[in-house]
Amino acid sequence: MRTDTAPTISRHDYQPYPYRLPQVKLSFDLDPARTRVHAQLVFESASAGWQPLVLNGQDLELESVAIDGRPLRADEYVLQAETLTLHPRADRYTVDIVSVCKPEQNSSLMGLYVSGSQLFTQCEAEGFRRITWFPDRPDVMSQYQVVLRADKQKYPLLLSNGNLLEQRDLPDGRHEARWEDPHPKPCYLFAVVAGDFDCREEQARTQSGRPALLQVYSDRGSGGKTLWALECLRRSLEWDERRFGLELDLDRFMIVAARDFNMGAMENKGLNVFNSSYVLADKDTATDAAYRAIEAVIGHEYFHNWTGNRVTCRDWFQLSLKEGLTVFRDQEFSADMLAQGLSGAEAASARAVKRIDDVSTLRIAQFPEDAGPMAHPIRPESYQEIGNFYTATVYEKGAEVIRMQHTLLGEEGFRAGLEEYFRRHDGQAVTCDDFVDAMESVYVQKHPGKNLGVFRRWYAQAGTPRVAVDLRYDADAHACAVTLTQRCDPVGIEKLQDPPAEKPPLHIPFALGMLDRSGAALKPELDGTARDTVLLELREAQQTWTFRNVPERPVLSLLRNFSAPVIVEYERPDTELMLLAGHDTDPFARWEAGQELATRRLLALVGALRQGQDPAADTALVETWRRLLGDAALTPAYKARVLSLPAEKELLEKTSPMDPLGVVQARRQLRAQLGAALAPEWLSAYHSAQDAGDYSPDPLSAGLRSLKNLALSMLMAGAHPQAETLALEQYYGAGNMTARMGALSALVNHSKSPECAQALSHFYEQWQHDPLVMDKWFALQATAPGTTVETVRALMLHPAFSLRNPNRARSLIFQFCMNNLEGVHHADGYAFWAEQVIALDELNPEIAARLARAFDNWARFAEPQRSALRSALQSIQDREKLSRNVAEIISKALK
Ligand code: PHE
Ligand code: ZN
Repeated sequence: MRTDTAPTISRHDYQPYPYRLPQVKLSFDLDPARTRVHAQLVFESASAGWQPLVLNGQDLELESVAIDGRPLRADEYVLQAETLTLHPRADRYTVDIVSVCKPEQNSSLMGLYVSGSQLFTQCEAEGFRRITWFPDRPDVMSQYQVVLRADKQKYPLLLSNGNLLEQRDLPDGRHEARWEDPHPKPCYLFAVVAGDFDCREEQARTQSGRPALLQVYSDRGSGGKTLWALECLRRSLEWDERRFGLELDLDRFMIVAARDFNMGAMENKGLNVFNSSYVLADKDTATDAAYRAIEAVIGHEYFHNWTGNRVTCRDWFQLSLKEGLTVFRDQEFSADMLAQGLSGAEAASARAVKRIDDVSTLRIAQFPEDAGPMAHPIRPESYQEIGNFYTATVYEKGAEVIRMQHTLLGEEGFRAGLEEYFRRHDGQAVTCDDFVDAMESVYVQKHPGKNLGVFRRWYAQAGTPRVAVDLRYDADAHACAVTLTQRCDPVGIEKLQDPPAEKPPLHIPFALGMLDRSGAALKPELDGTARDTVLLELREAQQTWTFRNVPERPVLSLLRNFSAPVIVEYERPDTELMLLAGHDTDPFARWEAGQELATRRLLALVGALRQGQDPAADTALVETWRRLLGDAALTPAYKARVLSLPAEKELLEKTSPMDPLGVVQARRQLRAQLGAALAPEWLSAYHSAQDAGDYSPDPLSAGLRSLKNLALSMLMAGAHPQAETLALEQYYGAGNMTARMGALSALVNHSKSPECAQALSHFYEQWQHDPLVMDKWFALQATAPGTTVETVRALMLHPAFSLRNPNRARSLIFQFCMNNLEGVHHADGYAFWAEQVIALDELNPEIAARLARAFDNWARFAEPQRSALRSALQSIQDREKLSRNVAEIISKALK
C-alpha cells in the first residue's frame, strides 16, 4: 500500500517568478547514450530583495554550476531530487550549468529521447527540466540561442527553433549548427531534432509579401507521403490570414514526423514535431479520415503560432486558453475546407458534417469525463500531474466555450475580440480571464448594460449542464411560450462535498427554430422580429420567452448547430423526431433528431434484452432511415452521418447502471434489422456511390466512399447473401486505403469465413513494412467481435508489437481496453488492463495514465463488473512504485 501522495497544486497559489530570464544560450553535445548540455542563463531580478533561485530538473547528472563565471562549491547550492537551488547575491547575474541526460534510457518520450535512429525533444508541459535545470514554467519567456553538435553521418540534420545562423564541420566526423529564435518563448516551446530525414519544401509568401520556407521532414524513404501535409500547411497559413488576419512571423516553418510520440503533435516555435500518423499519407496507406485528421492537426499546430505561442499561458491552469481556442480554430478551418466553393444550404450541410463529427467526439470522450471522478472545469482548480489534464474537457469542451463566445458575438464581433486580445497581450503569458476580458470589451458594445460575468462560470464549473424545455401553446393568441430550465448536478469530488458545491446558473446560448406539422419552417416572432433561428441567451435558472405569430403548435428544433455543450431534456413523441429528421432546415438538428430516435430504440432494446425479451422490429426507425436513404437532396457525406447509429460509448453513457454488453448486443441487433429491412436500398446506395477515377481526398469523393462503406457494412450486418462477395471484391480490387479498410473492417466485423481470415493475412503480407498501416491491422483485430484477452496476448507476441511505441500500444491495447466493450468487460479483461497499466507505467507514465482512465466510471456499472473493476483498480493502487501520473488517476477513481 502506498502512503506517499504527490502534492496537489492549486490554481490560487500562483506566484510570479522572482526573476526574468531574457537570454538563454544552450549548447548540446548530442549523443544517444550521454548528451551533455551547457546552459548559460542570464537572470534579472523581478522582485524586491535577493530571492533564492529555484530551478527544476529531472533525471539529470549535474557536472558543474557557476555564477558569473565562478564555479560553485557543493555547499553553495542545494541539489534535491527535482530542484536545484542557488542563492545569488546580485540583481543581474549569469548562471552556467553543465549537465548530462541519457536519451537512450528515456522511454518516457518527454525531454530528449531517441526514436529509431533520430533524436527528438518534447517539452510541454514539463519536459524541459529533463534537458537542463531551468525555471520550467510558461510565464518565464526568453530568447534562445542554440548550438547543436553531433556525429555528422548519423545526424546529418540538426534542427532547433527559429533561424539557422551557421553550420560547420568539426573534427572527428562531428558537425555543428547554430540556431537563433528571435521570438521570446517559454521553454515548453523549445525543440531539438537530429537525424537523417527526407525533406519536402515549398517557398511561400505571406499576405504582406514576406517569404516563408515551409518544410516537412520525415523518415528516410517516406518523403513520398508528405505532399498532403505540405499542402495542408500552406492552406493553414492562408486561412489564418484570410479568416483572422494573422500572418506567419517566421522565415521558416518546419514540421518533423516522429514515429514515437506521446500525443498528436507539438507546436514548438517554428519547429513543430508531429506524430507521424498526422503527417504521412498517400492513397494506398491512408484513409480519407486520416487525410482529414492530418489537415486538422496541421492546422491546429500552425494556429498555435498565434494562439499559444505569441500569446501563451501564464500557468498550466490556463491550458484551455491556448487549447480550447486553438481547437475551435482548427474546427473552423476544417469546416471551411469542407465548404470550400459552396454557398447557402450546401455550405451549411458541408460544415454540419464537421460539426456532427466534433459533437460526437465531445459526447463520446468529454461527457463521460465530465460525469466521472476526473471531472474538472475547463480551467482546472488543482492537479497533481499536469500531464493528466490534457483532456477532452480542456480541449473539446474548451473549444465549445470559445465557440459559444463566437456565437454570442457573431463572426465579426469575435474577430474584433480576438484582435483586441492580441493588441493587449501580444508577447505575454496570460490567463483565461484576460481572453474573456477582450471578448467582453466587444460584447458590451453590442449589448449595452450586459456583460460576460455569468458566462465566465463556464471556466469554473465542471459537469454537463442539462436544459429542460417546456412549451406552452396559446391557440387563440397564436403565441407560444418556451421555458428553459437549467441544472448541473454535482460531479467528481463535488459529490463528496458537504455542504454541496454551489453551481450557479450559466450563460447558455440556446439556438431554436420551429416547424409546422407539415415540416415547413415557421418564422416565430420575438421582440418584434421574425427569424428562422432565434438565439436565446439563458442566464438564469429558469427563463421564459414568448413568441408571436405562431399559427399552430410548433415542432421545436432545439439547440441548433449544438449552440452549447449541454444535454437537452424535452419530452416529445417519436413522430416529432421523424418530422425533424425529414425536414429540419438546420442540418445539425436534423441529424440530431434521427440520432435521438435511434437512441430511444436502442435503449428500449437494451432494456428488453435485460429482461430476456425479443422486441418486435421497429417501423418508425426503419421508415425514417428508408426516407433518408432515398433523399436525393442530401450529400453522401451527410447521409453517411445521418444513417449511422450512435456510438456504443454514447449509448453506454445513457444506460444506468451502465450495461456494456447490452449496448453492444442492442446496437448489433438494430444494425442487423436495418441492414436486412433496407437491403435493396443499401444495395442501390452501394452501387450508386461510385467515386470516379483517380483517388482524391476531396470532401465529395470522400463522402461517396464513406456512404459506400456504410452501405457495405449494413449489408454485411443484415447478412445479405451478396454482401461478403461484394466486400471481398472491394477489398481485393481497392484502389485506395479507404475502400480497402472499409471492406476489410466490414469483413472482420461481420464474418468468420476463411476468406475473411485470408484477407486479413493478405493485408498483413502487403503492408507489414508500413508501421502506420500495421497500426490499423492491430486495431482492427483488437476491436473485432470475438476478440478476447487471449487474442490480444497472442497479438502482443507478434514481432511487430512493442509496448514502447505509443502508436502500437494504442492500436492494440488501448483499442481493446477502451473500444472492445464485449471483449474487455469481464474479470480477465480487467485484470489484463491493470497488468498493462502497470507495465506501461514502468516505461511511459503519460501513456500509462491515459490507459489508466479506461474505467474511470467503474462505479456506474452493475455487479459483478463493478466489484471486479474496483479490485482491478485496487491492484494498481497497491503497487509499490507508481508514477505521479497513474497514482493521481487511480486515487481519484477510488475516492
Ligand atoms: N500542445 C499540443 C497540442 O495540443 C499537445 C501536446 C501536449 C503534445 C503535451 C505533447 C505534449 O497541440
Ligand atoms: Zn494544441
